[in-house]
Amino acid sequence: MRKINVAVLMGGRTAEHEVSLNTGKVIVNALNKNKYNVKPVVITKTGKWIIPKGYLTQSNFDQLDFGKSDIVPTTTGNALDKAIEEKIDVVFIAMHGPMGEDGTIQGLLEIADIPYTGSSVLSSSLAMNKVMSRRMFEYVGLKVPKGVDFTIWDWKKRQYQITSELKSLVGFPCVLKPVELGSSVGISIAKSEEDFLKGLESVFEHSNDVLIEEFIDGKEVTCAVLGAVNGEEPIPLVPTQIIPKTSEFFDYSAKYTSGATDEITPPRDFKGDMIKRIQEVAVIAHKSLNCGGMSRTDMMIKDDEIYVLELNTIPGMTELSLYPQAARAANIEFSDLLDRIIEIAIETHKNKKLYKG
Ligand SMILES: Nc1ncnc2c1ncn2[C@@H]1O[C@H](COP(=O)(O)OP(=O)(O)O)[C@@H](O)[C@H]1O
Ligand SMILES: [Mg+2]
Repeated sequence: MRKINVAVLMGGRTAEHEVSLNTGKVIVNALNKNKYNVKPVVITKTGKWIIPKGYLTQSNFDQLDFGKSDIVPTTTGNALDKAIEEKIDVVFIAMHGPMGEDGTIQGLLEIADIPYTGSSVLSSSLAMNKVMSRRMFEYVGLKVPKGVDFTIWDWKKRQYQITSELKSLVGFPCVLKPVELGSSVGISIAKSEEDFLKGLESVFEHSNDVLIEEFIDGKEVTCAVLGAVNGEEPIPLVPTQIIPKTSEFFDYSAKYTSGATDEITPPRDFKGDMIKRIQEVAVIAHKSLNCGGMSRTDMMIKDDEIYVLELNTIPGMTELSLYPQAARAANIEFSDLLDRIIEIAIETHKNKKLYKG
């Protein structure tokens, strides 16, 4: 059988650039080279595309020198032309956050008619937007923390009203989040009005939209899902309990510093029925946004209630990340998981009726 040409797309113009490079690297190295010709593609912080010539068939990422003078960074338009010229069969999107996980790159690949992994344009943008996804979760009966959201312009106009609404609806402590970011960038916990005002400033550095949630003083878990296509059921993997050791919550350093967080798969504090419930919630959340090949839903559990925090359509896949851990715990080889994600991408593209007019 002919090998499938896979471009692994990583980097990007966001705060999650480095995390994405790590995810990309892990995917490039894990992809089965007997099945795939692999081409790592890096989007720089200025939005240029670095596309090495040819494919990796044996060697792994570390043997590739992206500083080579024959690799000239190119524009998005040229990159797409090149992808078509070089007969890329599928793009594995290994990017997180805005312009990677939010439907924009997905839209670009739709227009170029190239299959891509993960979720569709709509699902990706719904999941990226914490206010919109909360609405979908509530609509299908999942519980979310109480919350209020507003824009920087609302704040300028109605500071007093918003503060009193916050006090009566959410109270302290509360969690401040930029509506469309990831990796905990810009997130803080406010225990007082003073903290809240400070936190708000740091959210507004990243975003014009803010979501304030009640702080759920519970135990944190996350559950990955392997998606499905053709009406099949998505499969939940084994949940992981998250216990940050040096931070108050699962912040950026807790996420990406080795040893900063205990990530326990399966969870230390939940068994049997609760594991099943966590998995059910992860699948319902996945389906509520109509996600594609993969997802990972973050949750807090308090007094036997599961609160959904958010869903990631492109979960981190670094050595330290949770999705590969969850696969291992479910006795699924990481490379088999990647095979399935690619298969879903190709199938999903085949099923589309848009281009056949
Ligand atoms: N309502 C909440 N109550 C308690 N902790 C929260 C809440 N929302 C977020 N957190 C903490 O902040 C972290 C990041 O929040 P999350 O909504 O998952 O955003 P991100 O997209 O940045 O991962 C969570 O993993 C959790 O530790
Ligand atoms: Mg999260």
